[in-house]
Amino acid sequence: MSMQNVASPAIGLTPPKRNSLTHIPGDEGWPIIGKTLEVLADPKGHVERNAEKYGLVYRSHLFGETSLVLLGPEANELVLFDRAKLFSSEHGWGRILGLLFPRGLMLRDFDEHREHRQTLSVAFKSGPMRSYFTELDKGIAARIAQWKAKPGAMLIYPAMKQLTLDLAATSFLGADIGPEVDEINRAFIDATDEQGALLSEQDVIDHMSFLMMAAHDTLTSSLTSLVAELAAHPEWQKKLRDEVSSLGLAPEQPMSFEKLDAMPLSDMAFKEALRLRPPVPSMPRRAVRDFSFKGFDIPGGTMVGVNPMFTHHMKDIWPEPDRFDPRRFTEETQRNRHRFAWVPFGGGAHMCLGLHFANMQAKCFARHFLQNLSVSLEPGYKPSWQMWPIPKPRDGLRVSVKPV
Ligand code: HEM
Repeated sequence: MSMQNVASPAIGLTPPKRNSLTHIPGDEGWPIIGKTLEVLADPKGHVERNAEKYGLVYRSHLFGETSLVLLGPEANELVLFDRAKLFSSEHGWGRILGLLFPRGLMLRDFDEHREHRQTLSVAFKSGPMRSYFTELDKGIAARIAQWKAKPGAMLIYPAMKQLTLDLAATSFLGADIGPEVDEINRAFIDATDEQGALLSEQDVIDHMSFLMMAAHDTLTSSLTSLVAELAAHPEWQKKLRDEVSSLGLAPEQPMSFEKLDAMPLSDMAFKEALRLRPPVPSMPRRAVRDFSFKGFDIPGGTMVGVNPMFTHHMKDIWPEPDRFDPRRFTEETQRNRHRFAWVPFGGGAHMCLGLHFANMQAKCFARHFLQNLSVSLEPGYKPSWQMWPIPKPRDGLRVSVKPV
């Protein structure tokens, strides 16, 4: 990992000495292993137990290093919005994603990150989005028709993974898209010329492979979660199917971009699925300077993590947090909520660049799936989820589908 991209040369990015964090409550567990095994075994329960014992700021030892966990909407705002440019994403995510995606967008910081993000955003402007939309819609319609032809038991997770991978390949590698892909490629090349070789060929490869990963794993997880909740809540399945029918499209007709706005219940249900099982359950950063939070002085170099999974289940914000209830996302209910209480897409400079893409894909999926199929779970079957690094049903999620 290079250290040249951070805000000032005075920044200390080596981890602080172990005893410089002993004023923070917490428990570092066994030497070397620390708390890593406990976290891997039950990430949600582990954080909840620690929060109960130590409060919203605690010390732990994860992946070979003393780290701080900062919990709740204020912590999310401090770290993600990062008004004071205090936190490095590169030196946070680097330990986890560095080997696979050393120069993906999330592994760049500050000025360099801003320039690359600006360049990459051309791929998410309205022209390219409309063309991905047409391809997504076609790809989803064809896949749902295959599912419909084989009604009965199916494992949703692997089927969804295949679908989202194929859709991401079509969108970002341009398997079928045509002239718009040329437009995006040209935009990348132009950016190279104007800004003095900003994007090398290697940069484009790095960004594209990162996009493929960012797009398909997160969507596989969240769409599986949505299907799981609709299967477990037939009353919501019916409400969403009614909404889809009211779009006035025959089952074989393509979706229209404009009709995406006429699916508020599907939007709320997807938001609720993302609340229950955020595909990125925690986000790491490394402090580039000293800072304080909730009365604690924290030295530069400290590894910190925020935790959407915990925030999304805080009882004082989300009554009965484990219950699926899309009504939490009516305009009125959302109005008085902290804007960093729901953060499946992060926030601030690194906020998910693909969030509109994700919403669009979720709605296209909901429309074709619900207009063609009904989904249910075997009586008494409760899927078990592995929550980290990405929420995933342990057995692939057995459902039964049948044509409606
Ligand atoms: C439900 C689906 C998705 C979820 C929950 C999700 C979540 C996130 C989160 C939490 C981050 C910020 C991480 C951080 O700040 O540490 C992020 C960043 C990113 N996401 Fe997504 N994502 C989703 C889908 C997508 C899709 C479909 C794409 C591309 C089409 C995408 C592209 C990106 C990119 C490029 C970044 C890096 C942004 C930056 O560093 O400036 N994501 N995503």
